Amino acid sequence: MIAMNYRGPYKVRADKNKPMPQIEHPQDAIVRVTRSCICGSDLHIYHGLVPDTRVGSTFGHEFTGIVEEVGPGVDNLKVGDHIMVPFNIACGTCPFCKQDLFGNCHESNSSATAVGGIYGYSHTAGGYAGGQAEYVRVPYANVGPMIIPEWMDLDDAVLLTDVVPTGYQAAEMGGIRKGDTVVIFGAGPIGIMAAKCAWLFGAGRVIVIDHVEYRLDFVRDYAQCEAYNFKELGDVVEFVKRTTGWFGADVCIDAVGGDAAGDVLQTMLGRRIPMTGGAATALHWAINSVKKGGIVSIVGVYGPIDALVPIGNVVNKGLTIRANQASVKRLMPRLIEHVKEGRLNPKAIITHRIPLEEVAEGYHIFSNKRDNCIKPLLIPHHARA
Ligand SMILES: NC(=O)c1ccc[n+]([C@@H]2O[C@H](COP(=O)([O-])OP(=O)(O)OC[C@H]3O[C@@H](n4cnc5c(N)ncnc54)[C@H](O)[C@@H]3O)[C@@H](O)[C@H]2O)c1
Ligand SMILES: [Zn+2]
Ligand SMILES: [Zn+2]
Repeated sequence: MIAMNYRGPYKVRADKNKPMPQIEHPQDAIVRVTRSCICGSDLHIYHGLVPDTRVGSTFGHEFTGIVEEVGPGVDNLKVGDHIMVPFNIACGTCPFCKQDLFGNCHESNSSATAVGGIYGYSHTAGGYAGGQAEYVRVPYANVGPMIIPEWMDLDDAVLLTDVVPTGYQAAEMGGIRKGDTVVIFGAGPIGIMAAKCAWLFGAGRVIVIDHVEYRLDFVRDYAQCEAYNFKELGDVVEFVKRTTGWFGADVCIDAVGGDAAGDVLQTMLGRRIPMTGGAATALHWAINSVKKGGIVSIVGVYGPIDALVPIGNVVNKGLTIRANQASVKRLMPRLIEHVKEGRLNPKAIITHRIPLEEVAEGYHIFSNKRDNCIKPLLIPHHARA
């Protein structure tokens, strides 16, 4: 089959001869992919920043597909079902899954005790093959996948596997109260969705900060918020303080993670050498520009090694830090309602529809923010109209 193949940092290609996935466990399903995406999280592995990303592996943790085959233990799905598959691989029965912490499953990732399994996200996330392929194996198929409602557009469905729940959970973890000022760092797909969702929680003012102009233009229009270029702000923290009567934002959201720009030292230590688990520039700004007693919500991804974080300020300001991988399965039912009622329009962020065979071009465009790219879809030939 055709599948994305990682050849080393900044090198991927479409492989025409990847072996077809097989049922390996009674609870597995084999799925024929109809849509997959490239995520900002894929850029961390594409840039070589995640340990144990093996040459030859296939990325892709956001996908929809049609069930082709099920193992004897799968009774929630049948052949022919069109499903959306959460990026977290979760067993459904461990103590963490029981608490709805589906991103922290204790069973699906034998390589770590922090994060659970994630499709196509290096061996530190379990070593599973991802969905940037024609076919993919879905473990614990009774647990994660949901059948796509008949009325739902496939382009919306695929974004419900990661972007929408992550943006929503970013806002949710912010504990936003009515009238709060929410500052979001990052105007990628996740920051854009977090800005949109912040209003659902009652925010009174939403500010997005990035340095890519076309993304700032997009988020202003899509999420009806303020958006600023940090290169033009001078001191970002001072700007946030000034615009909030010198108190600071009620809630700050880090939707950037370890690939952040904006600080030479952080970039050097976190991305170039790299000695730390990513450049924590946006997290720095979030901690320093939130008010005393405020909440910092982190969905940006960092590596397991310590990053340079101003922890003293966290203590002395009495901050609450909330962070996690999104718990997609927990959120999907209510997000389906938001899409149905028209409160969320996920597919509007899709800017590129790229044939799976041209996956290398997709990574190039998305990573380099070419061609006004916000969110690229990869479409296998059998799913193209
Ligand atoms: N927690 C989760 O479940 C989860 C799920 C999906 C993605 N993520 C993470 O969320 C982050 C964003 O994902 P995305 O798809 O939007 O990625 P993206 O790379 O498209 O967007 C990141 C944006 O941050 C901007 N940026 C860089 N440095 C900045 C800074 N110092 N301040 C403000 N903005 C800055 C970039 O210009 C870019 O527009 C990534 O770290 C990704 O790994 C987490
Ligand atoms: Zn993702
Ligand atoms: Zn579990």
